[in-house]
Amino acid sequence: MYTQAMDQPNSPQDGLRSVPGASDSRQTEFDARMDSDRKIEPQDWMPEAYRKTLVRQISQHAHSEIIGMQPEGNWISRAPSLKRKAILLAKVQDEGGHGLYLYSAAETLGVSRDALLDALHAGKAKYSSIFNYPTLTWADVGVIGWLVHGAAIMNQVPICRCSYGPYARAMIRICKEESFHQRQGYESLMTQMKGTPAQREMVQDAVDRWYWPVLAMFGPPDADSPNSAQGMRWGIKRISNDELRQKFVDATVPQAAILGVTLPDPDLKWNEARGHHDYGAIDWDDFWAVVNGNGPCNKERLATRVKAHEDGQWVRDAALAYARKQQARALREAA
Ligand SMILES: [Fe+2]
Ligand SMILES: [Fe+2]
Repeated sequence: MYTQAMDQPNSPQDGLRSVPGASDSRQTEFDARMDSDRKIEPQDWMPEAYRKTLVRQISQHAHSEIIGMQPEGNWISRAPSLKRKAILLAKVQDEGGHGLYLYSAAETLGVSRDALLDALHAGKAKYSSIFNYPTLTWADVGVIGWLVHGAAIMNQVPICRCSYGPYARAMIRICKEESFHQRQGYESLMTQMKGTPAQREMVQDAVDRWYWPVLAMFGPPDADSPNSAQGMRWGIKRISNDELRQKFVDATVPQAAILGVTLPDPDLKWNEARGHHDYGAIDWDDFWAVVNGNGPCNKERLATRVKAHEDGQWVRDAALAYARKQQARALREAA
């Protein structure tokens, strides 16, 4: 009795002794793994709610990677030098790769990539709300690198220790590439800040527009995040939204000072007693409006993605036709 049969509860018809509470023992084994911080792999039994939560989280993450190619992709043809164009091309291409690792990780949980993409294209699946803001100037590309990717790293490094093996392993490589994205953004901004007053103003304007949406990227305050506790119990979430946001603010303040920009928060100040920076109130109404489809670019992002998918149909058709030809040739040669 190999394979899945081992995973199914015994029934009296099997002629085997029915094991009382067999499914409970699997739950106990799962809980023990969670407690001892060991990984769950695709072939292991897992509670259905854990599987569904992971499918949702990993697919949303994958969607964010490929939609996230758009705001910066808009600037590839307008990059100010060959060097900046080459860096930006590599960076945007990395995001496509991140999407592929993550769709593959999601597929190990028994869902198909086609179904996940269909949900995205039908507007039923979410992706990170930050990509629904426009990139108005070249400075936006640098600020996205510095702040958006900086926030993404803060969020994603703990996922390298996620309890689900394929997701954790995908995140290790993704985080290495994200840190290159963050540094290239910061370095580009440093160059612009050493330029003309107009360039410095452009950087400050981009910081003013992106700073608050980036703080919202960490998600609602812990008190309004009802699923966080279960995510922590399952080892999917390691650090709370508010803790991550605080770490990000504390790391960003000295970086802004070196750069010579002002973070647009009059309430931002060092709190000696807490050993952290205090910061102002986030506009959660704006965040939820964007999450719910009413941001400045939601419709444009989705339409661009659907068009790219449709335009790429011939590539998928050609790859399948080639694979069928190869298979037929292998069969002929074996005969
Ligand atoms: Fe990425
Ligand atoms: Fe990135």
